Amino acid sequence: MEFSIRALAPQGAKTGCLVLGVYQAGAAQPPLLTRAAAAADRAARGRLSAVLAQGDLRAKAGATLLLHGVAGLAAERILIVGLGEQKEFSEPAYRDAVRGAAGALRELGARDAVLYLTDLKVPRRNAAWNVRHAALGLRDAFYRFDQLKTQKKPPAPALAAVTLATQGGPVTDQARAALREGVATADGVALARTLGNLPPNICTPSYLADEAKKLARQFKLGLEVLERRDMERLGMGALLSVTRGSHQPPKLIVLRHAGGAKSAPPLVLVGKGITFDTGGISLKPAGEMDEMKFDMSGAGSVLGTLRALAGMKAPVNIIGVVPTCENMPGGQASRPGDVVKTMSGQTVEILNTDAEGRLILCDALTYAERFKPDAVVDIATLTGACVIALGHVATGLFANDPKLGEALRAAGEDAWDRVWPMPLWEDYQEQLRSNFADMANIGGRPAGSVTAACYLARFTKKLRWAHLDIAGTAWKSGRDKGSTGRPVPLLVRFALARAGK
Ligand code: BES
Ligand code: MN
Ligand code: ZN
Repeated sequence: MEFSIRALAPQGAKTGCLVLGVYQAGAAQPPLLTRAAAAADRAARGRLSAVLAQGDLRAKAGATLLLHGVAGLAAERILIVGLGEQKEFSEPAYRDAVRGAAGALRELGARDAVLYLTDLKVPRRNAAWNVRHAALGLRDAFYRFDQLKTQKKPPAPALAAVTLATQGGPVTDQARAALREGVATADGVALARTLGNLPPNICTPSYLADEAKKLARQFKLGLEVLERRDMERLGMGALLSVTRGSHQPPKLIVLRHAGGAKSAPPLVLVGKGITFDTGGISLKPAGEMDEMKFDMSGAGSVLGTLRALAGMKAPVNIIGVVPTCENMPGGQASRPGDVVKTMSGQTVEILNTDAEGRLILCDALTYAERFKPDAVVDIATLTGACVIALGHVATGLFANDPKLGEALRAAGEDAWDRVWPMPLWEDYQEQLRSNFADMANIGGRPAGSVTAACYLARFTKKLRWAHLDIAGTAWKSGRDKGSTGRPVPLLVRFALARAGK
């Protein structure tokens, strides 16, 4: 799907599908036409308003109505999209309208479309924001994961070209940059989604390392993959303890995009890459265990973010660090009660082998120190408790530096991939005390996502660090089960905002 931005009169748009927005008006009143819809309606001698007066468009933002062969308009089809009430029009309604339009376009035979959505005014947002979210939202709505189905749905003729139309004014450099960012972000999201959706017998630690190799080749990124013996040499006893039960070799992937100034210290992203989490000897119950294939979503988001930033040649120095292994039971597996030594030198009593994410992350975070980073952000499907706290809407945010936390919050808001702050107070640390080692790897039921973060905080004292718990946001369950690609949009926006972009 290729995008362009152009100033264009709606009535003259020769296209497979012309997309126009209308606001919902008060009860028993016909919808309110946007400027583009009104211009098209005049050219069509009131045909659009006549149809709308019959009350066929549902009120919600994102609802659609399709018309064919409207005299007076050059387009083959007209897709009218509901925007909700004008006084309530804001980010969610805009995104719903884009996704509603995308959903309808996916079912049509149109090979190209012209959208008049990016010229709508979203309060507090500029035109570049609209463009970025239109490109990302459209691409994302067309994402498919059917590579493992032998009977594929007959492919609709692909929507090859989309014009984001404005009714006047020149197309700005900001709008063009926003388009590049939106498209590159969508590519990164798609990669993260596919890595998440792939089954755990395919997406193994070695598969993730191969995927990193492909990215390195395609985008000229620096790559290093540490093997088990490297981890042994480095003293990564916590990471190594998690992989013991598995027949898959562990990997530590280091992928580097140096787009910024030579002297600028890098941003390091550390992603949890458990390609399957059985819980180990502290075995998980059977129900929904398949979803633990998504336990590498942090890793997927790091690779996706690097892909996006490298793909748009972003002027940033960024390093992705991905510790990846499987958490399996077995005769060699770690036991509850085992004590291991981390790369930092601190010892840990493993009281529950299912709290494995923090064990692989603590060694990866210590490893990250060598890059003398400006900041380190880890991304992990770390705790079920975070899902209880924040549900599937917000990612949990923990930061040992308020400025860093605020920058992540703001980037999440801008990318509409939101996070919410959680405490890292010392008061919680006592829950991690152990009689037999420097600390335990679990802190009991109360505040489970906080004690997990507090555990990581013991390994990041020398760093400006933040932790994103994406347990509730990285995938959807139920009928729509699948990876969301979050928080790639947040991370891309965050990295670019740091570079002043
Ligand atoms: N990967 C899980 C966290 C998880 C569970 C994410 C369910 C999403 C849905 C993690 O490794 C885990 O098992 N955490 C335990 C920690 C506990 C043993 C302290 C949890 O949350 O139950
Ligand atoms: Mn676990
Ligand atoms: Zn896990």
